[in-house]
Amino acid sequence: MIAIYLTKEEEKMHDGEYGWSYHVAMKVLVGLGDLFGATRLIPIQSVHISGVSYKHMGDASIDFLQAIADNNGRTQVFSTLNPSSFDPNHLVKKFPKEYLENQKRIVNLYKKIGASPTLTCTPYYLNPPSKGQHMAWAESSAVIYANSILGAWTNREGGPSALAAALIGKTPNYGMHQKENRQPNIRVRVEAKLQNETEYGSLGIYLGKLLKDKIPVFEGLPRQCSRDDLKHLGAGLASSGMTTKFCHGKLPEEEKLETMLIESQDIEEAVGSLCTTTEQPNLVYIGCPHCSLKEIRKVAMLLKGKKVQKDVKLWVCTSRVVREKAKNDVHQIEKAGGHVLCDTCAVVTWIQKLGVQAMMTNSAKTAHYAPTLNNVDVTLAPLTQCIKACV
Ligand code: F3S
Repeated sequence: MIAIYLTKEEEKMHDGEYGWSYHVAMKVLVGLGDLFGATRLIPIQSVHISGVSYKHMGDASIDFLQAIADNNGRTQVFSTLNPSSFDPNHLVKKFPKEYLENQKRIVNLYKKIGASPTLTCTPYYLNPPSKGQHMAWAESSAVIYANSILGAWTNREGGPSALAAALIGKTPNYGMHQKENRQPNIRVRVEAKLQNETEYGSLGIYLGKLLKDKIPVFEGLPRQCSRDDLKHLGAGLASSGMTTKFCHGKLPEEEKLETMLIESQDIEEAVGSLCTTTEQPNLVYIGCPHCSLKEIRKVAMLLKGKKVQKDVKLWVCTSRVVREKAKNDVHQIEKAGGHVLCDTCAVVTWIQKLGVQAMMTNSAKTAHYAPTLNNVDVTLAPLTQCIKACV
């Protein structure tokens, strides 16, 4: 029996009167709502869908998307897509033809369903959600950024539940859609002086494992820490744990919360534990999560008057929209021998097929995933060192 309240219209969709696609989507939303104690479905402003890369999704996803499209499933709200497995303008000849064909089919099917082919994990740079806006986003790094930095309200959706929410234009009202679940429940006192984005990201990876799904409030982070640093912190937290939101600032002392202390040694150990090699990299990778305009600018500045060595590739990944806005900086990076890629990232493509064995990155999230998902060794270092290593 269904516990969640459904309107007459929703009941009809659930019973299949609007066709198979909406029936399946309602089943997913109602199932989730019942599981997590939601009382009803609420309208959402946008959806971000993960499960786009053919490398991670495989053939079964194509059949499922084909069935949704053939049964007239169409998105009801603005819906964006996570990165795919390749940039059509870069190195495509190195991949088997069938991989490329299948990836194109996935993106085309999403387009047919009505999703916008943004192919980025930073949809908030394209269309920043406003404070208090309800959404259904997948991609853990985007979810935590939206909840913590932009003040939007979203659960951490999986690929299927985000797609279901896109088809219905609604989501069940549980978890992060309820005010009482958005309060911090652990205090993290940071005594270490964080120096760069790599240390912010590593703190995230270190804490994510310990906090699981708790909401930390950070005390002691510099007031002027940038959104990019916080982006790396959030991406780390959400990769090694299930955190969907963090707060930043000081709570009144009398607010009784469990407290954790972070010292310099914790950060040093966290960075060290994410490095699996000290060997010279053959890929330097910047852009996890996809670069902001400021981050691209910084890369261009560091490359000024320099040349990337012949035996190292430099990849800077971003969205098409940011690439277009950063035209001059992109030109500077390419003049130095680097590549600015869109639609993909080093984790969701087949970097081993490109001959990469050792990668250097400033992203703790990539360092956390690449040794297992890409089977490559990783050195984690801040942007300035990454650029030094490749010129
Ligand atoms: Fe984005 Fe790829 Fe990192 S999807 S968050 S750049 S692993």
